[in-house]
Amino acid sequence: MDIKEEQIILRPFLDEDISTFTKWLDKGYIYKWFCPDGEEYREAWLDEVTNRNDKYHFMTHFIVSCNGKDIGFCLYMDCYFEKEYIPEHYGMTIDKKGTVYEIGYLVGEEEYLGKGIGTIIVKKLEEKIIESGGKVILADPDEENIISIKTLLRNGFIKIKDEDYRKQI
Ligand SMILES: CC(C)(COP(=O)(O)OP(=O)(O)OC[C@H]1O[C@@H](n2cnc3c(N)ncnc32)[C@H](O)[C@@H]1OP(=O)(O)O)[C@@H](O)C(=O)NCCC(=O)NCCS
Repeated sequence: MDIKEEQIILRPFLDEDISTFTKWLDKGYIYKWFCPDGEEYREAWLDEVTNRNDKYHFMTHFIVSCNGKDIGFCLYMDCYFEKEYIPEHYGMTIDKKGTVYEIGYLVGEEEYLGKGIGTIIVKKLEEKIIESGGKVILADPDEENIISIKTLLRNGFIKIKDEDYRKQI
Protein backbone atom coordinates (compact mmCIF):
# COMPACT_ATOMS: atom_id res chain seq x y z
CA MET A 1 0.00 0.00 0.00
CA ASP A 2 1.24 3.47 -0.80
CA ILE A 3 2.41 5.68 2.03
CA LYS A 4 0.45 8.86 2.75
CA GLU A 5 2.06 12.29 2.71
CA GLU A 6 1.44 12.93 6.40
CA GLN A 7 3.50 9.86 7.31
CA ILE A 8 6.60 11.42 5.76
CA ILE A 9 8.63 14.13 7.49
CA LEU A 10 11.78 15.92 6.35
CA ARG A 11 13.78 16.72 9.46
CA PRO A 12 17.13 18.56 9.68
CA PHE A 13 20.23 16.43 9.09
CA LEU A 14 22.37 16.04 12.25
CA ASP A 15 25.96 14.89 12.82
CA GLU A 16 24.69 11.58 14.20
CA ASP A 17 23.01 10.91 10.83
CA ILE A 18 26.35 10.72 9.00
CA SER A 19 26.81 6.99 9.69
CA THR A 20 23.31 6.17 8.43
CA PHE A 21 23.84 8.34 5.37
CA THR A 22 27.16 6.57 4.69
CA LYS A 23 25.46 3.18 4.98
CA TRP A 24 22.84 4.27 2.42
CA LEU A 25 25.43 5.81 0.08
CA ASP A 26 27.31 2.51 -0.01
CA LYS A 27 24.28 0.53 -1.18
CA GLY A 28 24.70 -0.46 -4.82
CA TYR A 29 21.40 1.03 -6.09
CA ILE A 30 22.30 4.40 -4.54
CA TYR A 31 26.10 4.48 -5.09
CA LYS A 32 25.50 3.88 -8.79
CA TRP A 33 23.68 7.22 -9.18
CA PHE A 34 25.17 9.29 -6.35
CA CYS A 35 28.80 8.35 -7.06
CA PRO A 36 28.96 7.82 -10.84
CA ASP A 37 32.70 8.48 -10.88
CA GLY A 38 33.38 6.38 -7.79
CA GLU A 39 35.25 7.18 -4.61
CA GLU A 40 35.92 10.84 -5.37
CA TYR A 41 32.17 11.47 -5.43
CA ARG A 42 31.67 9.44 -2.27
CA GLU A 43 34.27 11.55 -0.44
CA ALA A 44 32.64 14.72 -1.78
CA TRP A 45 29.24 13.66 -0.40
CA LEU A 46 30.73 12.89 3.00
CA ASP A 47 32.61 16.19 3.01
CA GLU A 48 29.36 17.96 2.14
CA VAL A 49 27.25 16.49 4.93
CA THR A 50 30.08 16.85 7.46
CA ASN A 51 30.68 20.52 6.64
CA ARG A 52 27.07 21.40 5.86
CA ASN A 53 26.93 24.24 8.39
CA ASP A 54 29.98 26.15 7.13
CA LYS A 55 31.54 25.40 3.74
CA TYR A 56 28.20 24.20 2.36
CA HIS A 57 25.92 26.68 4.17
CA PHE A 58 23.98 27.19 0.92
CA MET A 59 22.75 23.61 0.96
CA THR A 60 20.01 22.30 3.25
CA HIS A 61 20.13 18.59 4.06
CA PHE A 62 17.34 16.48 5.51
CA ILE A 63 16.71 13.01 6.82
CA VAL A 64 13.41 11.60 5.62
CA SER A 65 11.43 9.74 8.23
CA CYS A 66 8.37 7.56 7.77
CA ASN A 67 6.28 7.04 10.91
CA GLY A 68 9.36 8.03 12.92
CA LYS A 69 11.82 5.65 11.20
CA ASP A 70 14.73 7.14 9.25
CA ILE A 71 14.40 5.90 5.69
CA GLY A 72 15.96 8.46 3.36
CA PHE A 73 17.88 11.62 2.65
CA CYS A 74 17.34 14.71 0.55
CA LEU A 75 18.65 18.19 0.05
CA TYR A 76 18.22 21.42 -1.80
CA MET A 77 20.95 23.82 -2.84
CA ASP A 78 20.73 27.54 -3.57
CA CYS A 79 22.29 27.56 -7.04
CA TYR A 80 23.41 31.18 -6.73
CA PHE A 81 26.41 29.95 -4.74
CA GLU A 82 27.48 27.22 -7.20
CA LYS A 83 29.44 29.21 -9.75
CA GLU A 84 30.90 26.40 -11.88
CA TYR A 85 28.67 23.36 -12.28
CA ILE A 86 25.31 25.15 -12.49
CA PRO A 87 26.22 27.60 -15.30
CA GLU A 88 28.10 24.87 -17.17
CA HIS A 89 25.49 22.15 -16.89
CA TYR A 90 22.27 24.14 -17.12
CA GLY A 91 23.62 27.05 -19.18
CA MET A 92 22.14 29.58 -16.82
CA THR A 93 23.64 32.43 -14.85
CA ILE A 94 21.98 33.14 -11.54
CA ASP A 95 22.40 36.66 -10.23
CA LYS A 96 20.11 36.57 -7.22
CA LYS A 97 20.21 34.45 -4.06
CA GLY A 98 17.21 32.30 -3.12
CA THR A 99 15.65 32.00 -6.56
CA VAL A 100 16.93 28.81 -8.22
CA TYR A 101 17.47 25.58 -6.31
CA GLU A 102 18.78 22.14 -7.25
CA ILE A 103 17.55 19.02 -5.45
CA GLY A 104 18.79 15.53 -4.62
CA TYR A 105 17.02 12.62 -2.89
CA LEU A 106 17.21 8.95 -2.03
CA VAL A 107 15.24 6.24 -0.27
CA GLY A 108 17.86 4.33 1.72
CA GLU A 109 15.83 1.44 3.11
CA GLU A 110 14.94 -1.04 0.38
CA GLU A 111 11.60 -2.10 1.87
CA TYR A 112 10.38 1.50 1.43
CA LEU A 113 11.13 1.66 -2.30
CA GLY A 114 8.33 1.77 -4.85
CA LYS A 115 5.69 2.99 -2.38
CA GLY A 116 5.41 6.56 -3.60
CA ILE A 117 7.86 7.97 -1.04
CA GLY A 118 10.33 9.37 -3.60
CA THR A 119 7.42 11.28 -5.14
CA ILE A 120 6.40 12.65 -1.72
CA ILE A 121 10.01 13.67 -0.92
CA VAL A 122 10.24 15.77 -4.09
CA LYS A 123 6.87 17.35 -3.32
CA LYS A 124 7.97 18.23 0.22
CA LEU A 125 11.28 19.65 -1.03
CA GLU A 126 9.29 21.82 -3.39
CA GLU A 127 7.14 23.08 -0.50
CA LYS A 128 10.29 24.04 1.44
CA ILE A 129 11.78 25.77 -1.59
CA ILE A 130 8.57 27.75 -2.06
CA GLU A 131 8.79 28.81 1.60
CA SER A 132 12.35 30.03 0.89
CA GLY A 133 11.07 32.14 -1.99
CA GLY A 134 12.40 29.89 -4.79
CA LYS A 135 11.05 30.24 -8.32
CA VAL A 136 12.77 27.39 -10.20
CA ILE A 137 13.85 23.88 -9.20
CA LEU A 138 16.53 21.98 -11.10
CA ALA A 139 17.50 18.30 -11.14
CA ASP A 140 20.17 16.47 -13.14
CA PRO A 141 19.33 12.74 -13.07
CA ASP A 142 21.33 10.37 -15.23
CA GLU A 143 19.19 9.57 -18.28
CA GLU A 144 19.40 5.87 -17.36
CA ASN A 145 17.95 6.55 -13.92
CA ILE A 146 14.41 5.95 -15.12
CA ILE A 147 12.86 5.79 -11.65
CA SER A 148 14.31 9.15 -10.65
CA ILE A 149 13.17 10.71 -13.92
CA LYS A 150 9.65 9.32 -13.40
CA THR A 151 9.69 10.79 -9.89
CA LEU A 152 10.47 14.22 -11.31
CA LEU A 153 7.95 14.03 -14.16
CA ARG A 154 5.23 12.92 -11.76
CA ASN A 155 5.98 16.10 -9.78
CA GLY A 156 5.55 18.32 -12.83
CA PHE A 157 9.19 18.71 -13.87
CA ILE A 158 9.87 19.23 -17.56
CA LYS A 159 12.81 17.82 -19.47
CA ILE A 160 14.89 20.60 -21.07
CA LYS A 161 17.65 18.33 -22.35
CA ASP A 162 19.42 15.17 -21.18
CA GLU A 163 20.11 15.40 -17.43
CA ASP A 164 18.38 18.78 -17.23
CA TYR A 165 14.91 18.77 -15.64
CA ARG A 166 13.24 21.91 -14.34
CA LYS A 167 10.11 23.07 -12.63
CA GLN A 168 8.87 26.66 -12.41
CA ILE A 169 7.07 27.23 -9.12
C1 LIG B 1 14.63 7.66 -7.07
C2 LIG B 1 13.99 7.13 -5.79
C3 LIG B 1 14.15 8.15 -4.67
C4 LIG B 1 12.49 6.90 -6.07
O1 LIG B 1 11.89 6.52 -4.86
P1 LIG B 1 10.59 5.58 -4.76
O2 LIG B 1 9.94 5.89 -3.48
O3 LIG B 1 10.97 4.20 -5.02
O4 LIG B 1 9.74 6.16 -5.99
P2 LIG B 1 8.14 6.18 -6.11
O5 LIG B 1 7.55 4.96 -5.49
O6 LIG B 1 7.65 7.51 -5.67
O7 LIG B 1 7.98 6.05 -7.70
C5 LIG B 1 8.33 7.11 -8.55
C6 LIG B 1 8.06 6.69 -9.98
O8 LIG B 1 8.95 5.62 -10.35
C7 LIG B 1 8.20 4.46 -10.70
N1 LIG B 1 8.93 3.32 -10.15
C8 LIG B 1 9.20 3.07 -8.86
N2 LIG B 1 9.91 1.92 -8.74
C9 LIG B 1 10.08 1.47 -9.99
C10 LIG B 1 10.73 0.34 -10.54
N3 LIG B 1 11.36 -0.54 -9.75
N4 LIG B 1 10.73 0.17 -11.88
C11 LIG B 1 10.12 1.08 -12.69
N5 LIG B 1 9.48 2.18 -12.24
C12 LIG B 1 9.46 2.36 -10.90
C13 LIG B 1 6.86 4.64 -10.06
O9 LIG B 1 5.85 3.91 -10.76
C14 LIG B 1 6.66 6.13 -10.20
O10 LIG B 1 6.34 6.47 -11.52
P3 LIG B 1 4.85 6.93 -11.93
O11 LIG B 1 4.51 8.07 -11.01
O12 LIG B 1 5.01 7.34 -13.35
O13 LIG B 1 4.00 5.73 -11.70
C15 LIG B 1 14.61 5.77 -5.37
O14 LIG B 1 14.48 4.87 -6.43
C16 LIG B 1 16.07 5.88 -4.98
O15 LIG B 1 16.40 6.18 -3.83
N6 LIG B 1 16.98 5.60 -5.94
C17 LIG B 1 18.43 5.67 -5.67
C18 LIG B 1 18.92 7.09 -5.47
C19 LIG B 1 18.62 7.96 -6.67
O16 LIG B 1 18.70 7.53 -7.81
N7 LIG B 1 18.28 9.23 -6.39
C20 LIG B 1 18.02 10.22 -7.43
C21 LIG B 1 19.29 10.79 -7.94
S1 LIG B 1 18.94 11.96 -9.24
